[in-house]
Amino acid sequence: GAPVTADISALQEGQRLVLEWRGQPIWIVKRSKAILDALPTLDSHLRDPMSENPEQQPAYVLEGNPELRSIKPDVSVLVGLCTHLGCSPEMKAEIRPEPFDPEWKGGYFCPCHKSRFDMAGRVFQGVPAPTNLVVPPHHYADDNTIVIG
Ligand code: FES
Repeated sequence: GAPVTADISALQEGQRLVLEWRGQPIWIVKRSKAILDALPTLDSHLRDPMSENPEQQPAYVLEGNPELRSIKPDVSVLVGLCTHLGCSPEMKAEIRPEPFDPEWKGGYFCPCHKSRFDMAGRVFQGVPAPTNLVVPPHHYADDNTIVIG
């Protein structure tokens, strides 16, 4: 499929832009500083905190800070499909206690079988999803334009 372009100039903290690329939902999410600060504190709860499975993201999103899984620290780009059986996880972009996990620091919750991912798409231990959410190939054409594909 052809590449898809997104203008992120109006994207605010905590917001998500949803597009479609190759029949898959693509999420572009602007993360707050509080969320970015929380990500490294989660590593011991995660299955693959440093994203060592190379199938799940292009290598260039691990340069700099691998825990963020992004080119720009605050802007996360993910395929919005659970890596268990492909349901669409819900986004919870704020840090607040959740009944299913008092350690919750924001992220994605899959309603189908309760898999949880953090705001970098990294999967928690003890849930059915085997791997982190996929980061699709992408680059910046300019400061506010992302090209997916
Ligand atoms: Fe998401 Fe099963 S499809 S947990």
